[in-house]
Amino acid sequence: MKKYKVALIKGDGIGPEIIDEAVKVLDAVSVKEGFEITYKEALLGGAAIDVTGDPIPQETIEIAKSCDAVLFGAIGGPKWDNLPRDKRPETGLLKLRKALEVFANLRPVQVYDELLNASTLKPEVLRGTDLMVVRELIGGIYFGQPRGYEGDKAYNTMVYTKDEVRRIAKVAFEIARKRNMKVTSVDKANVLEVSQLWRDTVEEVAKEYEDVSLEHMYIDNAAMQLIRDPRQFDVILTGNIFGDILSDEASMLSGSIGLLPSASIGEKYGLYEPIHGSAPDIAGQGIANPIATIASASMMLRYQFGEEHAADRIDQAIKQVLKEGYRTKDLSSFDAKEVVTTSEMGSLIAQYASQI
Ligand code: IPM
Ligand code: MN
Repeated sequence: MKKYKVALIKGDGIGPEIIDEAVKVLDAVSVKEGFEITYKEALLGGAAIDVTGDPIPQETIEIAKSCDAVLFGAIGGPKWDNLPRDKRPETGLLKLRKALEVFANLRPVQVYDELLNASTLKPEVLRGTDLMVVRELIGGIYFGQPRGYEGDKAYNTMVYTKDEVRRIAKVAFEIARKRNMKVTSVDKANVLEVSQLWRDTVEEVAKEYEDVSLEHMYIDNAAMQLIRDPRQFDVILTGNIFGDILSDEASMLSGSIGLLPSASIGEKYGLYEPIHGSAPDIAGQGIANPIATIASASMMLRYQFGEEHAADRIDQAIKQVLKEGYRTKDLSSFDAKEVVTTSEMGSLIAQYASQI
């Protein structure tokens, strides 16, 4: 029997609740598909600060590297907001991404027909939207040096090398080949040198992918086009901070940020996490939507383990619960037949995924 080891990082806020549901679903499909997943828990963010004083203890990096994949919930909360930057929960996550060298963050956005009314946008604009944000994750202004806060002055540096752009561009073109053959590269080349290098490099890489169509779009225009006509996009290729912003914007096409999963991949490791945060205001109440985390677990099965059929089971089960009108609180006003708790939603998806 095939065996996979998964590092589980529950984190803070709603993190533990949503990870528990993803594990429930993974256990249900692994029984059906005849593989076994064992879990090793590790601390990150506020949970790690409380125990060790460090948002990312060395042991967490070791556990993550010793496993076949990392499944992560969410981190952060008001309790740790006033700590110095290098001690904040977010720094733990950024260091984990960097340590695992997961440079490609894939954020698929699809609009489920059943939830067309959940978005603040018109259903006719949204119907059929299916796009993938490919965000560079371990470079750009998040990591550039120098950075600092000195008296009345503070600064960060946005830097990309051609190698960094090349490898993320390749990922985007490869994904486009498996989807609808179009890449939209998003930058601010009319103002920033770093964006001009980005654009030049993407053009070079495009020569190896002449079957895929490429367009360039400025970030401000892209932010507008994404809500004007989201169906024009297939793969959106962009840097770290533009991808962060565009993916939160894109989540509103689907109706709830509680629906969007992500996969962060590199040469060797994979980190799977919902795109949303730790939502401390609703933690512990059983009302968080576990779908983004469950869908991230499905991406882990597909991308990291090649367990396509198991992943299909989960994706179909998610569609089915939504079709049947089960909704967590975030979506309770949209064609809900029954409002369910976090744990009930996980159980329903586990049950449907087993029946497929
Ligand atoms: C995300 C988050 C993170 C980011 C934060 C928590 C550091 O917003 O995964 O999108 O900015 O990358
Ligand atoms: Mn974000």
